[in-house]
Amino acid sequence: MEDKIIQIKKQALDEINKAQDLKTLEEAKNKFLSRNSEFNNLKKGMKDLTPEQRPKIGALLNQISDELTKLIEEKNEVFYTKELNERLQSEKIDITLDGNYIPQGHIHPLTQTVNEIVEIFNYLGFSLIKPELSPEVELEKYNFDLLNVPKEHPARDVQDTFYCENMENVVLRSQTSNAQARQMMNSKPPIKIISPGRVYRNESVSARKNNLFHQIEGLYVDKNVTMAQLKGVLNEFIRLYFGSSRPTRYRSSFFPFTEPSVEIDVQCIMCQGKGCPVCSNSGWLEILGAGMVDPNVLKAVGIDSDTYSGFAFGMGVERLTMLKYAIDDIRLFFNNDIRFLKQSV
Ligand code: DAH
Repeated sequence: MEDKIIQIKKQALDEINKAQDLKTLEEAKNKFLSRNSEFNNLKKGMKDLTPEQRPKIGALLNQISDELTKLIEEKNEVFYTKELNERLQSEKIDITLDGNYIPQGHIHPLTQTVNEIVEIFNYLGFSLIKPELSPEVELEKYNFDLLNVPKEHPARDVQDTFYCENMENVVLRSQTSNAQARQMMNSKPPIKIISPGRVYRNESVSARKNNLFHQIEGLYVDKNVTMAQLKGVLNEFIRLYFGSSRPTRYRSSFFPFTEPSVEIDVQCIMCQGKGCPVCSNSGWLEILGAGMVDPNVLKAVGIDSDTYSGFAFGMGVERLTMLKYAIDDIRLFFNNDIRFLKQSV
């Protein structure tokens, strides 16, 4: 038995020493040290030995097995490092080479602003209205009547509405406030929604005005909603949107669907209130209209105005985008000039 062991050891040493790479080394390892190897069979055969022979042969087998394992490990380390270095060398890439430029589209600046504003109001607890409650082609009823703007009211002219020629009472909505009436008729308070979307007005196009633009409407109706909450929410919105808290000014105003109504100005971001052409030297920029929902509107949509109150606000997306990124012509948003669009991130 001892001779046999020595002979196998010699064979194994031979093959291990001959191995020149990881693959042949692995083969040698399998041949001599794996479970089915001859060497292992010898270990299994120990049970047939006499009790005197057993410890001696056992010790010899273990010693050889340790010796071979050690040798294989050492060679393995050498081959592994060698092969790794060869691979690193052959797969080396020149990271200073120019890559292939793959042109990518950008999110339109207006969409970016809408997304950003929606996110801010979500954070403040407002959820996005269901699209079906905020249609662009609208009945006069929702765009005007239910918002306390009766038929002959001058506010209808102020907004230069597009009327549908062959369908009576159908308009392209002139304001996203239409969503207010639809939302209130479709759900019970507490209501806390925002509604972004396109609006249309029959105006001549200039650097400041386009006949299609975007607004975001907000509505909060619940018990005990106050003007203080309106201020809290909108000041926080302004802080988050413009990135730092900036002076605001609430001017009293008029909208048919809110009472009292306010227009909110922020200190001019170009001149910090000193006066410049952007703010017509006033130091202030108007950014949104708001107010406490007029009890007449609540009544018109079937909400008890003794129990509930609310506030609403509406802002122009183009204006907010222009102010934030110092864009001086509203038409840039709609001309699809790639040089302009490319600048967005
Ligand atoms: N709909 C108004 C507009 O287009 C903006 C507005 C003002 C909306 C006051 C409101 C509000 O909800 O309370 O000029």
